Amino acid sequence: MNKPTAFIFDLDGVITDTAHYHFLAWQALAQSIGIDFDAAFNENLKGVGRMESLELILQKGNKANAYTLVEKEAMATQKNEHYKELIVKMTPDEVLPKIPELLQRLQQSQVKIGLASASKNAFTVLGCLKMLGDFDYVADAAKIPNSKPAPDVFLDVAKHFGLDSKYCIGVEDAAAGVESIHRAGMFAVGIGDVSSLGEADILFPNTAAIDVDAIYRAYDQWFKQQA
Ligand code: BG6
Ligand code: MG
Repeated sequence: MNKPTAFIFDLDGVITDTAHYHFLAWQALAQSIGIDFDAAFNENLKGVGRMESLELILQKGNKANAYTLVEKEAMATQKNEHYKELIVKMTPDEVLPKIPELLQRLQQSQVKIGLASASKNAFTVLGCLKMLGDFDYVADAAKIPNSKPAPDVFLDVAKHFGLDSKYCIGVEDAAAGVESIHRAGMFAVGIGDVSSLGEADILFPNTAAIDVDAIYRAYDQWFKQQA
């Protein structure tokens, strides 16, 4: 059976669920400029970069052209400062179910473990979860030219490991992330709902349901179809 050499994980929604903290920080910012912001709209922001998220919120409030770039950068900074106040209180209890067991199994079978997050706060979050030592490489989002759905961040991790994409498996909870994995030429594991992640090569409803043997079987079939 063909086996992958690396697993490359998204952070927010895969390793831990920071979506609620992003929600609280964006909601406070939106309300301060008179834009309604609820949990349903927050779903649109999963996997989307900071400035792109702000643009979506401004569009929702019909304020897409109401601010200068300098003002928008100040708003994004304000949101991020609030977000950082919330995430520094995170503890290892907030690692999603079965993720520690999965990483341990991969480590034991000498599979490389990488992190490909759009978040510039990834190192802070991993530090609070006490997980910095669990990853062989963490991509630095500040140095990645194009954010998801572009393939750059997954390719950065594969390049660091010196691996061709076809030996890498990406794990994502957002449609933009699954597209990013596929554009990088990798096998995609989706965590979530078929309505948004139907393009994934294998899908699990949540992290507790991840079945590594099922991933290996599906990857083997996929690998044989690669050139
Ligand atoms: C992604 C999140 O992982 O990172 C998005 O799903 C977030 O919601 C993006 O906007 C960027 O994160 P940050 O921490 O750099 O603002
Ligand atoms: Mg995510």
